[in-house]
Amino acid sequence: MLGGHLLHGGDYNPEQWLDCPEILEEDIRLMKEAGVNCVTLGVFSWAVLEPEEGVYHFGWLEEIIDNLGSAGIQVILATPSGAMPHWLTQKYPEVMQVREDGSRNLPGKRHNFCYTSPVMRRKTAAIDEALSRTFGKKENVILWHISNELGGNFSDGACHCEACQNAFREWLKEKYGTLEQLNQAWWGRFWSHEYTDWDQIHSPVPRGETTVTALELDWRRFVTAQFCGFCEMEIRAVKKYSDLPATTNYMDTFKNIDYNRLSRGLDIISWDNYPFWHREKDEVPAAVRAAFNHSMMRSMKKQPFLLMESAPSVINWRENNPVKRPGMHMLSSMQAVAHGSDSVQYFQWRKGRGSYEKFHGAVLDHKNGSNTRVFREVSEVGRRLPGLEHLLDGTVNHPEAAVLFDWENWWAVENITGPRLDLNYPGYVMDHYRAFWEQGIEADIVDMNADLSGYRLVSAPLNYMYKSGWAEKIRAFVRGGGVFVTTFFSGMADETDLCFTGSHPLEDVLGVVQEEIDAPSEEFENRFLYSENAYPAVRMCEIVHAKEGTEVLSVYERDFYAGFPAVTRRSYGEGQAYYLAAESDLSFLRRFYEDVFDSCGMKNALGAKLPYGVTAAVRTSCRQKPADAGLADSGEAVFVMNFRNEPVSVECRGDWRDAETGETYSGKIPMEAFGCKVLSRTK
Ligand code: GLA
Ligand code: ZN
Repeated sequence: MLGGHLLHGGDYNPEQWLDCPEILEEDIRLMKEAGVNCVTLGVFSWAVLEPEEGVYHFGWLEEIIDNLGSAGIQVILATPSGAMPHWLTQKYPEVMQVREDGSRNLPGKRHNFCYTSPVMRRKTAAIDEALSRTFGKKENVILWHISNELGGNFSDGACHCEACQNAFREWLKEKYGTLEQLNQAWWGRFWSHEYTDWDQIHSPVPRGETTVTALELDWRRFVTAQFCGFCEMEIRAVKKYSDLPATTNYMDTFKNIDYNRLSRGLDIISWDNYPFWHREKDEVPAAVRAAFNHSMMRSMKKQPFLLMESAPSVINWRENNPVKRPGMHMLSSMQAVAHGSDSVQYFQWRKGRGSYEKFHGAVLDHKNGSNTRVFREVSEVGRRLPGLEHLLDGTVNHPEAAVLFDWENWWAVENITGPRLDLNYPGYVMDHYRAFWEQGIEADIVDMNADLSGYRLVSAPLNYMYKSGWAEKIRAFVRGGGVFVTTFFSGMADETDLCFTGSHPLEDVLGVVQEEIDAPSEEFENRFLYSENAYPAVRMCEIVHAKEGTEVLSVYERDFYAGFPAVTRRSYGEGQAYYLAAESDLSFLRRFYEDVFDSCGMKNALGAKLPYGVTAAVRTSCRQKPADAGLADSGEAVFVMNFRNEPVSVECRGDWRDAETGETYSGKIPMEAFGCKVLSRTK
């Protein structure tokens, strides 16, 4: 466990209070009261750390780090590149991003630097190295936090300046070698879009090229590569005089950076979680989304991750920002831990008095000191976590299922020009994931580069793009006994968006032959019977033929393709492959996955059907293999979470012990409103 604890704390921005020593003293006193053991310093501190070019003022930071150290509080130290000081943008305007329309940004805001700019890289490396030299060996500094939410808000994520255009051309030369290869991969003959000189290539922008889909894909890959290059440059700089691990804080499914690619250069994954709780009375959609994101972060290294930011209560950037209802703070914090987080960190410790985030929630408000509901609820988390450290140390979740979520597939499938123009890939994948969540069956969220060994079930909804090697990997997975689920509009195109010809790359495994795809308007919607219930076939209805040996589990009922397969299953080697030819609804996905889980003997940890709004997650020792049929052995921590704001009774198989209170349950577990219990199985 990093720092030897479950970390509890968050972003601390004391540079706003340097002229109020009494505030700084109060901060440390109240941190102790709230059970804070770790804070993140320096996230946007560049202008205070380097008030003029090359002049570093680190004294204030050192004093604060030392005072925190004396109070037993650890520090995650950030590099300051998340926001640029005005002297930098004034002297070197090329550090500011150029937008799609070709205009350069004016100074201000944050997260909007050109990641290619050599000056930006030099200036960042210089301050990072200075931070490394001064703080890299401090006893209470435990982790480097690179920049902040790379590519994040207030920018469209990409820079279109001349330096970036040139770097893009170099990146393409490296990838394709010759223009001939590039033209082929991009299908350049079409509309006379063949390039005869590398300088003819520009980033895709609305007033330029937007019709060459492979160009867009490569541009997105290049943008990711530049962010990776920038981040790796910063990691080298902070590690110059320090052996500490490094992370950067991710957002959730952030389209502009392929996080799986960025993860390769990081030691630890961390992310910032801001679910929209209380948007509606039903908290399940928000809970599913948060669980999906936590699971994805964990899956990137198959290791515990850090929840780097979360809101102690409100945020300030949605149209309406509800306060967290009593109990939700504890539950949402425990949810992160349940899915593999070794921390609960907040944005931020104390509300600033002015500017953009003065109404964003914080542990300490403008008024009332520690005498607030938010402070009390945060302190409860601070009291609870230490009691779980012993149980959770060295554990992480080891699901037997994986759901595919691949950035390149996302870029490709949402950029298609037919059969529909309104595909929402993350939404679609999360609908499938929800069927897992509702049944308390955990899943890793992986991309096409993942190692699939150890999984019994892999589900790949809307898997339009097949990266090279993916079909072979799935074939071997199924042959070896794995169960594979995929849907309509899968296996359509390769990595440069060239359609496969002849047959689906997995036709032998899936046993279906794709022919047409109907994207029906509402009046033409179809339906199919599955397990005696009728379900809608909407939006995307693929017309496929079943090959000999493929079981047709359901057929369309209407229109000229009535009788054609809607759901199929085929045995291949030791395993099975399911094909869902049509988009349907949640009630179908629930029913369908229930059957799939049954057929591969997968159960949730409690071995019972969970009531709506309740889910379970299991952390087991990293050295231990997942227990048989998902039933937890003693020593495992089983989290049961109730996202309903009312008590429920949860059925369970066997006898369970509450790891925190020692209470035992047999057959039934009473759950409080928004409650979370951590259980172990009694022998
Ligand atoms: C992001 C940033 C923080 C803060 C929060 C507010 O996560 O990293 O600096 O602005 O949003 O929700
Ligand atoms: Zn640029």
